Amino acid sequence: MKKSDKSEYPVILAIESSCDDTSAAVISNGKVQSNIISSQLIHSQYGGVIPELASRAHLQAVGTTVRAALERAKINIQDIDAVAVTTSPGLAGSLIVGSHFAKGLAIRYGLPIIPINHIEGHLYSGCLEDDSLEFPFIALVASGGHTALFYTESYEKYTLLGSTIDDAAGEAFDKTAKLLGLGYPGGPEIDRLAKQGNPAKFIFPRSMMHDGTYNFSFSGFKTSIRYFIEREFPNGVPQEILPDICASAQEAVAEVLVAKTMRATKEKNADAIVVSGGVSANSRLREIFAEKASKTGTKLVIPRMSYCVDNAAMIGFAAARKLIEYGTEAFRDYTFCVSSSALRAERKH
Ligand code: KG4
Ligand code: ZN
Repeated sequence: MKKSDKSEYPVILAIESSCDDTSAAVISNGKVQSNIISSQLIHSQYGGVIPELASRAHLQAVGTTVRAALERAKINIQDIDAVAVTTSPGLAGSLIVGSHFAKGLAIRYGLPIIPINHIEGHLYSGCLEDDSLEFPFIALVASGGHTALFYTESYEKYTLLGSTIDDAAGEAFDKTAKLLGLGYPGGPEIDRLAKQGNPAKFIFPRSMMHDGTYNFSFSGFKTSIRYFIEREFPNGVPQEILPDICASAQEAVAEVLVAKTMRATKEKNADAIVVSGGVSANSRLREIFAEKASKTGTKLVIPRMSYCVDNAAMIGFAAARKLIEYGTEAFRDYTFCVSSSALRAERKH
């Protein structure tokens, strides 16, 4: 691919390193030319992400991941128009590794650099997946680090409707799995076991489901699972009960996520729903969303998994929109810092 192939869309090299995935992507003509995701397996033995180890693993992976993204896209670094990088929210050390690498490239090749909010990447991944998706839509972002609902009016205007006040939905899955002696990350394991289980066998809390806000809470859910296991199975959970517990726990989390999203869609009069973040892989969540959305005639977009998990393609896509809107000269600041803190309710540029 040559630089002259591009139309109005610039060629962007994007880097994402906010948590435990090192990812690099090339976006050109608004299309994903490559999206390499290198996941850090080291954390599984600890049952959660260890920040210090994550930073070190990013340092080891970032160079080869960027090179692989360029090679897969069949593009030379000289043909890149801009570099994009995730700068918030996330683990500070992890964000610093990606940002530093991106700055080095941008300065070396005289390129503009676009700092991107990770959540914005998730938000617009629905547009990346489906270019017929129209605004306004409701976006649910549910992963190991965040659970939030947005009203999305345009590429530059979105409003945070609510978010978790404690644990994220993915964390609820991961912690439940840990209590059950399953591996990390726990979501896929729970999903797999739940397929053979009865979701109505046990009733776990649907916290804040009908509280009238768009916020979520999963810490009470996690505590109730812990008490349940201690009370019912003090000598350990028998293997044959696991599917029922997984199915019942999964049902509780999925129901709350769907109920709040559907209420937001109705109240905001939105025509479409986007579900993103690693938890969107959950098969029961997808099933309930599909059922509810078809009943209300609402368009449902759940991007392919490589755009749902932490990935650089969504960062590059968000950056492309900003470059088109503001032009390259708006992105010549090489002094920006990273921020680990979470969401801003509304963000411009
Ligand atoms: O977006 P992601 O890859 O990374 C971040 O946390 O940002 O999401 C990972 C989370 C983990 O908590 C994992 O357990 C959860 O997504 N997850 C799932 C499933 N696949 C991944 N949760 C429920 N069901 C799944 N099938
Ligand atoms: Zn994420």
